[in-house]
Amino acid sequence: MCGIVGYVGQRSARDVIYKGLERLEYRGYDSAGIAVVLAEDGVGKNFVEKVAGKLKNLQNKVGNLSESSGLGVGHTRWATHGEANEANCHPHISDGITIVHNGIIENYAELRKEIGENRFYSDTDSEIFAHLVADNRAKGMDLSEATRVAFQRLEGNSAFVVIDRDTPDTIIAIRKGASPLVVGVGKNEGLVASDVPALLAHTRDVYYLKENEFVILRHDGAKAFDLDGKEKRIQLEHIEWDADAIDKMGFPHFMLKEVHEQPQAIAETLRPWIVESKEKVRIHVDRMSSGSVVEAVQAAQNIHIVACGTAFYAAMYGQNLIERYVRVSARAELAHEFRYRKPHLRSNDVGIVVSQSGETADTIAAARMMRERGMKVFAITNVRGSSIARECDAVFLMNAGIEICVASTKAFSTMLAVFAALSVGLGVAKGHIDEEQEKEWVGAFLALPSLLEEQLKQGNMIQDIAKDYQNMKGYLYLGRGPYYPMAMEGALKLKELAYVHAEGFAAGELKHGPLALVEDKMLVVAVAPEGSGELHLKTLSNIAEVKSRRGTVLGIGQAKDSHFQDISDRYFSIPTVKLGDLNSILSLVPLQLLAYYISAAKGCEIDQPRNLAKSVTVE
Ligand code: AGP
Repeated sequence: MCGIVGYVGQRSARDVIYKGLERLEYRGYDSAGIAVVLAEDGVGKNFVEKVAGKLKNLQNKVGNLSESSGLGVGHTRWATHGEANEANCHPHISDGITIVHNGIIENYAELRKEIGENRFYSDTDSEIFAHLVADNRAKGMDLSEATRVAFQRLEGNSAFVVIDRDTPDTIIAIRKGASPLVVGVGKNEGLVASDVPALLAHTRDVYYLKENEFVILRHDGAKAFDLDGKEKRIQLEHIEWDADAIDKMGFPHFMLKEVHEQPQAIAETLRPWIVESKEKVRIHVDRMSSGSVVEAVQAAQNIHIVACGTAFYAAMYGQNLIERYVRVSARAELAHEFRYRKPHLRSNDVGIVVSQSGETADTIAAARMMRERGMKVFAITNVRGSSIARECDAVFLMNAGIEICVASTKAFSTMLAVFAALSVGLGVAKGHIDEEQEKEWVGAFLALPSLLEEQLKQGNMIQDIAKDYQNMKGYLYLGRGPYYPMAMEGALKLKELAYVHAEGFAAGELKHGPLALVEDKMLVVAVAPEGSGELHLKTLSNIAEVKSRRGTVLGIGQAKDSHFQDISDRYFSIPTVKLGDLNSILSLVPLQLLAYYISAAKGCEIDQPRNLAKSVTVE
């Protein structure tokens, strides 16, 4: 949602923070700011620079901040309260106190009134916290106490980093709810940020702040406390990430790099599921989790799969596979709908929450709700130390590596891969998939990365197709069964990247309304590889209906499918994989590249689409 960086140490805080913010800009890019404290002759002074718009606008102003300050905080914003102008930009200052914030203060109207309207210079909820801490300091509390007490007045999920002109060797980081903070402990320096990439240039020893916790950070280490002020033990984790992961590696955009990383990412996702023993190679579920997932699923009457956005489309795919191979009723739901619709949940039901970041507020709330009802909840996530990973009963890691582009690509395909492995593994455990079929699945999983490689080599063909179709009146994406979620995802990619109207439909739904939109300026992207059994022919009939209304069709199917090719205006063929369910993963590459090249042709900001942020840590 927003990106936070704080630094205390011997280096130039402004430079460390600016570089850190560059690594976090995917979290928000409406405005940016940095504040430092400079202590001269024992007297501390605040300095702050802010700009509306992207971080690069701040570059010229950063030089105005003293290079020799070793204490500061910075922020990139995704606006919630107050438009993205300079006054609303963080950091916010009240007397000697400087704060940066990620989250929402829900009782802000009441607190703002109490503090007094005349003290406010911005429209943000965040500024409230600077005043509350400053007022507590004025009452004689030390910085950590002033922060802790002020924090207890807030409702809603928030993370703050606080510095004080009068304590120029200390940072306080505090959090509640789905607003992540991670502390990095380096040699003679301390850092704190919303996400690990901002820390990697300085340290790999990190500590993820837990719920309702605060940390006092100095150059010589960090101490953690609960919100009653009781000290807690800090156990540092060592991050092994490859630093190249956060560079574009010669690609013009992170998105293109991440699309090309899919073969490797899928191989990494599937590797831990496939267990080789003397007798055979098999897919093993419980080795992937901490408890008995199999037992929980065996006892379940229903599986609720809950997620938002792209992760929800992965959940739809998961629903399909789980019902088919595990033979238990499964339902994919949007987290923000699920949590408020008072669902009927039994304690022996199972929840699966899907979230790349592991920090999406609605998904976390849904996971908590299910756990409170006594259900076992499993997480599919890409971030090992995320809130979702920490709170769920078992974690299936996607192993996609860091995804920087706001629009998900490799995160989606690896979510699908996890669902495929999980469904097959559970199907085997429940006796619905026999040894021979399991062997076939293992073979198909192992073949998948090279098939994806093969497909990526045809990328220039999609670039060519995108040229023809970049100025259509609208875009309809059609699919059935396992391709329906792919159609939804293809349309979402185009909407978020190219700012054009695109809709995904179950192909059978077309004649119930959307067909009225069809004309020659409407591109219909039909995702219909074989492998969906009888549904394939039904989708082709739907495409014929489009053609008879002069719609323009881009077909995505197999090379051997000459009928489908004949009825399409343009056609992109995907390789054949032995097990049809995996065609969904193969059909993604053309959908992702189509959105990428149309967006590039329109000159849109590919990695940071307008109005969006990578992880949505507010409701
Ligand atoms: C899709 O390209 C978006 N990045 C968005 O829909 C995203 O999938 C959604 O916000 C959920 O995020 P999560 O997987 O981190 O929970």
